[in-house]
Formats: sequence, C-alpha cells, structure tokens
Amino acid sequence: MKKHILIILIGLCHQYILSQQQLSEKYNLMPWPKEVKENNQKFVITKGFSVGIQDISNQRIRKATTRFLRRLSGRTGVFIEDGFAQESSTKDSFSLLIKYKRKGNLELGEDESYQLKITNKYIHIDAETDIGVLRGLETLLQLTNYNKTQYYFSGVSIKDTPRFPWRGLMIDVARHYQPIGVLKRNLDAMASVKLNVFHWHLTDDQGFRVQVNSRPKLHQLGSDGQYYTHNQIKEVVAYAADLGIRVVPEFDVPGHASSWLTAYPEIASKDTIYNIERYAGIFNPTLDPTNNKTYKILDDVFSEIAPLFPDVYFHIGGDENEGKHWDENQNIQAFKKKHGLKDNHELQNYFNIKVQKILKKNGKIMMGWDEIFQPELPKNVVIHSWRGKEAMLEAAKKGYKTVLSKGFYIDLLKPLKHHYLNEPLKDNHGLTDNQLKNILGGEATMWGELVTPLTIDSRIWPRTAAIAERFWSDKNITNVSNMMKRLDVVSQRLEELGITHLRNRDVILRNISNHQNISSLITLTRICEPLKAYQRNKGGKEYKSYSPFTQFVDACGTDAKDAFLFNEAVEGFLSDNNQNNLQKITPFLTKWIDNHKAFIKINNNPTLAKLEKLSKNIANTSTILKTALISGKMSKNKLNQAKIIIKNLKEPTADTELAIVDSLQKLIEYFEK
Ligand code: ACM
Repeated sequence: MKKHILIILIGLCHQYILSQQQLSEKYNLMPWPKEVKENNQKFVITKGFSVGIQDISNQRIRKATTRFLRRLSGRTGVFIEDGFAQESSTKDSFSLLIKYKRKGNLELGEDESYQLKITNKYIHIDAETDIGVLRGLETLLQLTNYNKTQYYFSGVSIKDTPRFPWRGLMIDVARHYQPIGVLKRNLDAMASVKLNVFHWHLTDDQGFRVQVNSRPKLHQLGSDGQYYTHNQIKEVVAYAADLGIRVVPEFDVPGHASSWLTAYPEIASKDTIYNIERYAGIFNPTLDPTNNKTYKILDDVFSEIAPLFPDVYFHIGGDENEGKHWDENQNIQAFKKKHGLKDNHELQNYFNIKVQKILKKNGKIMMGWDEIFQPELPKNVVIHSWRGKEAMLEAAKKGYKTVLSKGFYIDLLKPLKHHYLNEPLKDNHGLTDNQLKNILGGEATMWGELVTPLTIDSRIWPRTAAIAERFWSDKNITNVSNMMKRLDVVSQRLEELGITHLRNRDVILRNISNHQNISSLITLTRICEPLKAYQRNKGGKEYKSYSPFTQFVDACGTDAKDAFLFNEAVEGFLSDNNQNNLQKITPFLTKWIDNHKAFIKINNNPTLAKLEKLSKNIANTSTILKTALISGKMSKNKLNQAKIIIKNLKEPTADTELAIVDSLQKLIEYFEK
C-alpha cells in the first residue's frame, strides 16, 4: 500500500514538473513561481483600469501601486485614467483588488508569499503581508501580453512562495564608488526579480565610503571625497524598504583595511605610511587586534553607523587576512604567546569576539565571510560562505545560519549556466531537517575592481535574474535553454526599469570609435567575451582604480549572443551534416566576412587598431570555412592557413576572448578527417 502511495506521489511530482516546464515555454516569468495554472482567460488593459487597496495609509503599498501603474501605462501606452490606487471600500469593483493581512516586517524570514488570480473580469492579489503583495505585483507585470488590438494580462492562477528567505546581491562600492542613483536603479531591478537583501560592501583597501562624524578622518582621508553621507544612506535604506529589500552593510575588518589605516595609522599592525590602495588584490594593511584604540575606533564607528541601518545583521567581512603584518610585529607575537593564541587564525578569532560584542551592544547580529567561522562565536552569527560549499554545510551542521556566495561570483564573468545550475543543496548534503533551516539562501557578489557606473549594470544584469530564480524557485527548475529564452525578455524589461546594461554597450562603442558607425563593432561584441576568472588585470597591476573602463572589453558581455547561436549551429552540423544544418552556419560566416570590410572603414584610431588583427582573422577563417563548407572540401594549403589563424584567435585581444574559436576549430578539424 505504502509503495503505491509513493508511486502516485512520484507520478504527481513528475507531472507537476512537466506542466510547469510546458507553461514556462509560454510565459516569461522569472523567478518561476511555485505553482502556475492557466485558465484561458485574459484581462484586457483599458483606460478604465483601476486598483483597489484596503488601506491607503500604508505608504509601501501606495508607492508600489503607483509604480505599478506607471510601469503598466508606460509599457502599454494606455492612458489609464486613475493614476493612483484607491481605498477598496470606495467602490464595488476594481480591475485589480489587492488584499493582505498585515504590514510585513522587513526582517529575515518574513512572509513573502502571495496568490495571484487573473480572469476576464478581475485580477486579485492576496497575501499575508504587503511585502508578498509587492512580489505579486512584479509577477503580474511579467504577465503583460499583447496582440494587434489589445494589451492584456494572461489568465492564470498562481500560488507562490520563495524557497530561501535570504536572496541577495552584494555590491562593492569600495573599489569603485557607485553614486546612489546607480544603487537605486539596481534596487529596482532586484525587486523586479524578487531579491530581498542588498549587501552593501562599504569599505575596503580602495575606499572608506561612509561619513563618520565621530572619526571624520575615515571619510575625509579614506575616500577621495567619494562617500555616502548619513542622509544618503538613509535615503538608500528607505528606498530599499519601499521595495521590500533589507540592507546589510559591510565594514571589512581586520584585513582589507588600507583606507581605515590611511586615516588612523596608529591602529595599524605595522608602523609605516598608508595610502588608499589604487590596485586590485590582497594587501597586507591590517588593524592591530592587540591595540585598545583599535576597538575604541571600531566602537565609535559602529555605534554611529549601526542606527542608520535598521536591519539586525551587520557584516564585518573578515576575509583574506593573511596576517603578514602580524607576523612582522614583535608586540603582536608576544601578545599571542601571553594569551595562548597559537596562530593568526586564533588571533583573528580573538578580534572577532571583541567586535561581536561591540555589535551586540548596538543591537546587531554579526555576519562575516567564512574565515570568521569558529565554535566560540555565539550561535546567531551568520557565516557567509564564499570559498566552498563545505563551509556552508559545516556551519549549518554546527548550528550556525549561513548564506552561500560560492558559485555566485558574477564578477568572474563565467557563463551564466555555471551560476544558474549552482544548486546550493545537492541531494547528498547530509543535513538534518533542523540543520537545513540554517541554510538561509545566497547572494550574488558584484566585486567592483573592474566596474564603474557605466558598466556595472551589464556585469550584474540580466544574469542575476537567473540567480534570483535559483534562490526563489523550486530546485527542479533547471532547464538552461528555457531560462535563456525567458531571460531575454526579462533583460528588455530591466532596461525599461532604467538598467543600462544594453544601451551602454553602444555608448562605449561610440566612444571608442570616436562617433563613427559602430555596427561592425557591435558584431564583434556579439562573439567576444571579457576574459574570465580575473585573467583581465592579472596580478591586479594593469589597471588602477582610475584607469579607463571604457574600452572594447567593457562593451562586451558574457554569454555573447551570436557566439551562443553559432556554437549551437556548429554542434548541430557536426552531429548531422545535412544541408539544413549547414545553412544555419553559413550566414554567420558571411556576416563576419562582410564585417571586416565595414570595420576597415572606421579603423582609424589606436583603440580600434588593437582589434584589426582579430577582425581580419575572423574574416579570413570565415572565408576559408565558407568555401570549404559549400564545396565540401578544403585544400591542404587552406587547412594549414586556417590552423595558424586559429592559433592566433586563441590569444586574447584587448582583454577579450573569442567565444566562437572552439567551434571554428572543430569545423576545420571536420575537413582534416
Ligand atoms: C572575498 O571574495 N574575499 C570574500
């Protein structure tokens, strides 16, 4: 009997996955909701569209519905007559009726679930909290559809709730300062894909980005004048709160501390001159954990800053302290001996425990990168796993809450598939049900060494939408090509929200071409990708923080579009070399042959000249391959020529790599056989 029930359950589960997969071919929802059912109805969007809410004194809902209405009319061009939501008691019926039980608390684990029903006659959003309503409004906007005569919402019933309660994006504003306008537009984008934590990495070797009145040298000497005032911080926190997003600040200590020590060298572990760091990498300046003044300054800073951030979690970094300056300091070595601290790790533990007490006094719970993990810490400390999933599992087993970033380092510029399929909890995780609750979720990390306000959006988006799906949706939602299809639409909608990931490509290309025709450069960006895994700026010594990040590589993104399509076409041809599959390849080759002719016309400055060899080699390979593919053969001479060009094409050009080079090589090898 039990076996039968199990078989039925497995069958139902299988059916659920199948039906959600079919629906995801049709609807471009992201993150994919927990349960979607369609009803073949549709709600037509007319100028009479109206929104009813139970209580217009709830500012979060008022602002959310106003934003919703503006985005809807902006997208559809419908002149909606009622520009604002009304109290639902004022009328019998509304197009969209919103109900929720209570105002949500902006804290970890708050209920974000919602139900959405769209029929011919009405749309209902029902939720436990107003934060759930916000999530539902985003789903509703993703269901806008159209035909030649109407805009409408597709008829569905959705029940939705997140898989993980902590779904974050970290933005490092220390390596490159990001004005609050950049942060606000990214918060809008986060909310549109239901992310709920903005982790604000505020200090590092390259900058201390916060006004501190009690210790003003920090922002005066440590920031090049690029820091956030208290009012600006409050503004960002309030903006995020309106979107249902918590803000967790990070002040990275005791390492990554050059900016602190530029201001207060007296708390350094080494007696030397400190300056704001201009390069990227891991540096030695470290706070002195044996000096009482260190804790006095930390106390002053944290006591002043803590009230600006309503969230209870406070991140202290704690990563990558190699302790070199500790080793070099006789007094620190003597201190270790006296206190029975056997190595630098134990010394850092000593430091962390003191910092944790300062934070506790200020009503905060400490969070830190996984280096801070140690059994003496109070059990409410959150371990942020970045070096490996083992740290996450280990922390969870020992009863600590933990957040995963390993595998979600978007600054590595790896293919999106790598992040999307980075399942936090593989089946063999070995955790008990109680321990599983310690896995809070994850964060994408946007480290800022190589991004400026011009380029940061294109490094975060649209890929972080797919990561948001990993954090929100069922773990079985893993079809990459279906995700890519939905992501294409999400990407356009992110631009509609103000994200500059698409348009700034052309801004950069116009700049490097000195305002000539950029079409040939666009073609190159569609097959070239930035060097991955920190190969750009190897050793951190090529670029300073103020070097130009306005080059060809900055216009290129990961998952280059034409490369993706071409690589697929080549795979198809190599597995079945029929005429149909051949014809999927040749238009690309023709395009790249012609592209070089267009490129030559604008190739008149030193920046573009760096791309000449690349463009020419692509065209020459394409010519050889096109001729061979059409005639069905390649001469030995051409084969040798092509092999030499491919070798060249494998070398990086202007910090980019050619994302079609393997496919070109495979096609050449096809003729070698
Ligand atoms: C880190 O990437 N150093 C946390």
